[in-house]
Amino acid sequence: MLLTPLEFIGQSTLLSPDKLLELHFELVSGKPTYSLQFSNHVVLKESHLGFHLKDGSSLVDDFKIVSQETHSKNEQWETVWGEERYINNEHNELLIKLEQVSTKRLLDIRFRLFNYGLGFRYEFPEQPNLGNFVIIDEITEFAMAGDHIAHWIPGDYRTQEYNYTTSKLSEIKSLFKKAATYNVSQQTFSETGVQTALQMKTEGGLYINIHEAACVDFPTMHLDLKEGTFTFSTHLTPDPLGNKAFMTSPRPTPWRTIIVSNDPRDILASRITYNLNEPNIIEDTSWIRPIKYIGVWWEMITGMSSWNYTDELSSVQIGKTDYTKTKPNHRHGATTAHVKEYIDFASEHGFDAVLVEGWNVGWEDWFDKRKDYVFDFLTPYPDFDVEEVNSYAREKQVELIMHHETSGSTRNYERHMDKAYAFMNKYGYHAVKSGYVGDILPFGYHHYSQFTNNHFLYAVQKAADYRIMVNAHEASRPTGVSRTYPNLVANESARGTEFQAFGGNNVNHTTILPFTRQIGGPMDYTPGVFEMDISKLNPNNNSRVNTTLANQLGLYVVMYSPLQMAADIIENYKRFMDAFQFIKDVPIDWEQSVYLEAEPGEYITIARQEKDGSSWYVGNSNGANPREASVDCHFLEKGKSYTATMYVDADDAHYKTNPQAYRIEKQQISYETKLKIFTASGGGFGIKIIQN
Ligand code: NOJ
Ligand code: CA
Repeated sequence: MLLTPLEFIGQSTLLSPDKLLELHFELVSGKPTYSLQFSNHVVLKESHLGFHLKDGSSLVDDFKIVSQETHSKNEQWETVWGEERYINNEHNELLIKLEQVSTKRLLDIRFRLFNYGLGFRYEFPEQPNLGNFVIIDEITEFAMAGDHIAHWIPGDYRTQEYNYTTSKLSEIKSLFKKAATYNVSQQTFSETGVQTALQMKTEGGLYINIHEAACVDFPTMHLDLKEGTFTFSTHLTPDPLGNKAFMTSPRPTPWRTIIVSNDPRDILASRITYNLNEPNIIEDTSWIRPIKYIGVWWEMITGMSSWNYTDELSSVQIGKTDYTKTKPNHRHGATTAHVKEYIDFASEHGFDAVLVEGWNVGWEDWFDKRKDYVFDFLTPYPDFDVEEVNSYAREKQVELIMHHETSGSTRNYERHMDKAYAFMNKYGYHAVKSGYVGDILPFGYHHYSQFTNNHFLYAVQKAADYRIMVNAHEASRPTGVSRTYPNLVANESARGTEFQAFGGNNVNHTTILPFTRQIGGPMDYTPGVFEMDISKLNPNNNSRVNTTLANQLGLYVVMYSPLQMAADIIENYKRFMDAFQFIKDVPIDWEQSVYLEAEPGEYITIARQEKDGSSWYVGNSNGANPREASVDCHFLEKGKSYTATMYVDADDAHYKTNPQAYRIEKQQISYETKLKIFTASGGGFGIKIIQN
């Protein structure tokens, strides 16, 4: 690969390969600081760097520069699955080596400037005066240059499953209590704290995104807005005693990332998060493959059926309870017969797999947080025959997806993990959906602490040993680690479709998620709900799905994931088989992606080319305001003709009043075509484009 020549303006100034971004590093009275500029805009004003340590010392001042190095890279790597087959990694690097004069402690800071973004991390070299140490605070600042508009969720340590609040930075504090609807204790909150990835827009039309990459063996980062300023400082998730990170040199921290452009489509197209992660370490990836699935799931989420087999037990003793003697509630979803119906439907319509939740004992007890021994991941309820359903699935060329709800008990999961994964191997499961509902056990270890993050990665590493793919719900929001471990095929880690049955998602929710949650990796959003009125499934549930049906189709393209669910119950698909065809057809792995239109909170339109194929699919998700979307077909090959099948909102569609009003139209199109498509309030569309 040809290296782009580096151009350094001064000792500690670095330019991006396209020269639009400029990073400046400076020691100001011995304090390390950095700032960032994009074209003529200030992205970050002078911002401080460093740490406070548990032993009372700090790494924030008294530094001198020992040396500095510059490097540059321009390479391309191939993905195992993804929004594209190849990713470019082109950046210029500045490595600053610092020494604290009084302590002789060494600290390196490595900056990488890409087109449209900066990543930097701290590295603690091996050294006599800093071996084992405990970080009590990271003080990394992000000094924003104005009162930007931000799409934010509250920075608590327990959940990421919030609707976004869109406000000016100065309004975060007053809106915080309203936004933080979870009733968690004050100490898990900082009242100006927000989670990353944080998407902002400046008055001058610059889009700025702050997140992290490769958060490995380190706590997750929230951002605290300093009172009366527009400066964020890093807020690491603590352990029960307030410690943040246990470190041994030599060690790096995760990368802190700032993606920047005046065109929001560049934020969606950025691969900085993956580029800052280590390459894939799984040699044989033949067993890692995208999956389209249905499941015995939405019926429990909506309250039509139950995960638990009986309503009688108040206390389960794993292995000791004889379920054949307990009274079934006759609402249990995961019965052998019912799962077979799902297998039949999956097989008939070309789905790869069926997820089955509530198959194993323990659900009667799973909310009891005093116990850390709720599930064993091995013992089926008496009406679920593991052997029979799996061999039936095999006959029908479908697989089952295992479900491990851990009830947040990391120790319990770890002590059963080998047996649980071996059990999966024995019966032919290749993918597990895990979950961490409720407070993490051991008590006091929050979801996003170093300890818990290590657990999440341990589960993925162990799964790789058993050739198992992982889709972890309620785990920390991802930071691109699935580049290194591509068997981590998805996470939930944000407010998914399930909340449409728990009160609803904001109508523009999926026009924000690709700018926030998905900066770190794919989301198991579980789209495809065709019946918006949940009371039709469960008369006691008055929740509504805040989208049109056509929007649900568009999500298969907009909300990228190699693991895509068709979430609704079979009966609802049978009512709309013509629209269901789009879900059957849409690929889940892509050759390339083209970001056609985007404005966070308003709309997103994306075109993607099927991997190993010539077909294209276009998806749109629209927010509250009805709009005409433009699809410029320049992504198609010149001189070729194509048939587009368009699944669009009808003219009178509206997410509240008329969500199931859609039209399916065919049209001949080519490179020259510019489609204009009406999108309703909460609407969207999906288009399938096949070469003639
Ligand atoms: C929350 C998950 O997000 C959901 O998908 C799952 O069904 C429940 N927990 C039960 O584990
Ligand atoms: Ca969840």
